[in-house]
Amino acid sequence: MSLTIICPGRDMSQWISALKDRAPQLKIEVWPDIADPAAVEFALVWKHPAGVLAGFPNLRCISSLGAGVDALLQDTGLPVGVSLVRIVDDELKQSMAEYVCLGALQHFRQFDEYRQQQADCTWQARPLRHIGTMRVGILGLGELGSHVGGKLAEMGFAVHGWSRSVKACEGITSYYGDEGLAAFLAVTDILVCLLPLTPVTRDILNSKLFRQLPNGAYLINVARGEHLVEEDLLAAIDAGHLSGALLDVFKSEPLPQEHPFWRHPRIKITPHIASITNPESAVLQILENYSRALSGQPLLNQVDSQRGY
Ligand code: NAP
Ligand code: GLV
Repeated sequence: MSLTIICPGRDMSQWISALKDRAPQLKIEVWPDIADPAAVEFALVWKHPAGVLAGFPNLRCISSLGAGVDALLQDTGLPVGVSLVRIVDDELKQSMAEYVCLGALQHFRQFDEYRQQQADCTWQARPLRHIGTMRVGILGLGELGSHVGGKLAEMGFAVHGWSRSVKACEGITSYYGDEGLAAFLAVTDILVCLLPLTPVTRDILNSKLFRQLPNGAYLINVARGEHLVEEDLLAAIDAGHLSGALLDVFKSEPLPQEHPFWRHPRIKITPHIASITNPESAVLQILENYSRALSGQPLLNQVDSQRGY
């Protein structure tokens, strides 16, 4: 019996020590150094090579190392009938809330404009809106979106969210389904994308959607780069319809050196760090799922592979 880590190119030493601290008896192997593929029952994966998971005939559970499972589900060679789980974690929610609140506050308090004024040695107070008039719309009111929305609402922003099904989250007005999207966008000054990447949500941040936002709206994308049609964002900002964007995720990561986002004055970028799974807190649910998978009990944070999240 073993737990196999398949996270090529990633330093997994912190994960291995966190797992060993809590489960000293557990046999941990790191792909591709697997003694006996038939003994592998649980795989912890991030950006695994397509097809590799089919090489473990007794695999019972595949766990994503993060919240997203898009890279996992893009593997058309996933073994049939093996359960998929993902990370849902308070620390992941907390760091995502920090990032989005920072981005929303910087935009609301006009920090880009004041930084430019500083560069120009200009002392000029700008009019300040009341926070309750700044409307934040969150695409995706799941584990992360609902937590982030709650924190923004506590701060005083007017918060609403869009999801597939209706939600009852305190302080957040719910819009849902394709029929709810236009009304949601019409009242969104800051648009936050926290959707999972699925065939339905791919390229959702496009010029048609941007046109439905109020003039001057601002975009924060912390979900996946493939949600965004990059040239549509550039066109919407350059035309003055959108006021700018904060982007953490990109179609191509690392962002290529020649990419226009690096030098665009109204776009801020970060290198996919909005929220990173903390091994210390996440190993508890991984070990719980390992023992549940072995004993055939229902798993935590299961993914619906048909739905795509
Ligand atoms: P989640 O709990 O699965 O929530 C997904 C939400 O999106 C749900 O509210 C769902 O609606 C909604 N949704 C899905 N498809 C939709 C559609 N077609 N139309 C409308 N709403 C739709 O996911 P999560 O844990 O919050 O994570 C969200 C994403 O954040 C991850 O998939 C990942 O890509 C990204 N992420 C990024 C970072 C980073 O560092 N940048 C870190 C962690 C995660 P229902 O509830 O009605 O089903
Ligand atoms: C990070 O992007 C994650 O999905 O956890």
